[in-house]
Amino acid sequence: MSVDFESLSGDLHRLKDLALAEIAKAADPAALDQLQIQYLGKKGDLTAVLRGIGALPAEDRPRVGAVANEIGEAVKTALSERGLELRSVVQAQRLAAESVDVTLPGRTVPRGTLHPIPETIAAIAEVFGQFGFVVYEGPEVEDDLTNFQMLNIAPDHPARDLWDTLYVDIPGHLLRTHTSPGQIRVMQSTKPPIRALLPGRCFRYEAVDASHGFEFFQVEGLMVDEGTSMADLKGLLDEFAHALFGPRKTRFRPGYYPFTEPSVAFDVECVVCGGVGCPACSKTGWMTILGAGMVHPVVLQYGGIDPERYQGFAFGMGVERISNLRHAVPDLRYYLENDLRFLEQFR
Ligand code: PHE
Repeated sequence: MSVDFESLSGDLHRLKDLALAEIAKAADPAALDQLQIQYLGKKGDLTAVLRGIGALPAEDRPRVGAVANEIGEAVKTALSERGLELRSVVQAQRLAAESVDVTLPGRTVPRGTLHPIPETIAAIAEVFGQFGFVVYEGPEVEDDLTNFQMLNIAPDHPARDLWDTLYVDIPGHLLRTHTSPGQIRVMQSTKPPIRALLPGRCFRYEAVDASHGFEFFQVEGLMVDEGTSMADLKGLLDEFAHALFGPRKTRFRPGYYPFTEPSVAFDVECVVCGGVGCPACSKTGWMTILGAGMVHPVVLQYGGIDPERYQGFAFGMGVERISNLRHAVPDLRYYLENDLRFLEQFR
């Protein structure tokens, strides 16, 4: 079979037209790879046509070579252009499919909050901290001696009544009924001057109602130094009341505790009615927020402190009561019920 330049270059041009048409139709980059192999590969169609070159007269060969090169280049160019086109289509599809709507509101992570009891303890500690009071903690399971006897509460004292106390199986031990035994522990472990704050959980054998729990919290305060007086106590408690409840009148009323002498109740002008008289203050205009007094000399002695040289005052408050006043909570049973509808209000 004789091959001439015309028919060979005609074959090449048909091949080119076919290749360009198929490249234009290629649907994805993988199809293009196939076409590249099919047309330009070692066993490809272009190579096959060029095999015919050998049968041409010598003077025609370079011309066919030039046409073949030109066609090869044209196919290569078409392949890479279509490749770019397809890749941008694929990229556009991915961008559309994987797009993130940054304007969507994020998923909210539920945020915790301090329980009103530790929150109130922290508020109390912050005030007294400014006056140099340091926070200590005593044990919840206390011994009889520290909870009662060393606080000048004799074994036949009414507070020792079985009805007032929760005992544990360890002989001579009980769940502390107040934070006052912490006074003894601080005095026995440190030397004056002492400024101690003792927050903690207390327990009593108690019929539970809106203002009584068998489990509740107190914050105890103790100051021992030379020349400590009732005036220091009153000044300190005034600062405390003003910090928590604003500028209100305060007063001392005579009180009684076996471990303080004299003993007082510390009242603040009613935080609900401002002193006019309302149901919250039993129409008296005053609210009692804590008990206090000068530490009894016998108690100082039990604490290892010389009452001839040192004086001290102590005070003790119910945290639920302070929190009730701060947050207008009407019933202390809410604090330990773990009801989120209550707790979530303290965000
Ligand atoms: N411990 C007393 C109570 O539980 C409060 C108190 C503490 C009173 C310190 C005086 C001094 O009621």
